[in-house]
Amino acid sequence: MGSAHPTLEYKIHTTIMQFKFTDPATDFSSGLQVITDYHQDFLTRGVQLVELAKEIKKQGMTEQLANQCMNMYCHYSHATNLHHKDEEEALFPLLVDQSSLIIGMIERLIMDHEEIEESWAALSSRLCHPENINNFDHFLHLAIEFEKILRDHLTREDEDFSPLIKTLLSDDQLKLAGTKMSEIRHLIS
Ligand SMILES: [Fe+2]
Ligand SMILES: [Fe+2]
Repeated sequence: MGSAHPTLEYKIHTTIMQFKFTDPATDFSSGLQVITDYHQDFLTRGVQLVELAKEIKKQGMTEQLANQCMNMYCHYSHATNLHHKDEEEALFPLLVDQSSLIIGMIERLIMDHEEIEESWAALSSRLCHPENINNFDHFLHLAIEFEKILRDHLTREDEDFSPLIKTLLSDDQLKLAGTKMSEIRHLIS
């Protein structure tokens, strides 16, 4: 696979190792706190992601912008995967014996996760090879679409789901969810 920018490609590849995932969550004493920390991070980073795509469209790909793409790729690849595991493996199982309303909400949220992962797959294949991005309009479209799908989902969870969780789960259960989330990270690392 040839590149029109061999120097740029070389530099990007030599700096890959500098990108390190920093977990947005530091307090695992409550599963809900971990979820809240991730949602806040996704919202902030989503704005930065769209800004990055706009900047690339404006000035073309530069080494600095390519590095930002790799940084986004590194972060979202880990964060999206971990966050969906946190919810599906640590939080949702505590709610399966609840009402059919809750079960229906969980099914809907899991479908959202699949949609987010599909959108991310399309965007991430570009982000991890910034030297190959040549259709900047399409790249911006993919970034805007991913940011919107994720933000709509976060809003649904924050406004409809989290308030219910707070009334249904005890402090001990939320602590258990936090412990499980911590274990998920130990298994992965
Ligand atoms: Fe979710
Ligand atoms: Fe979430």
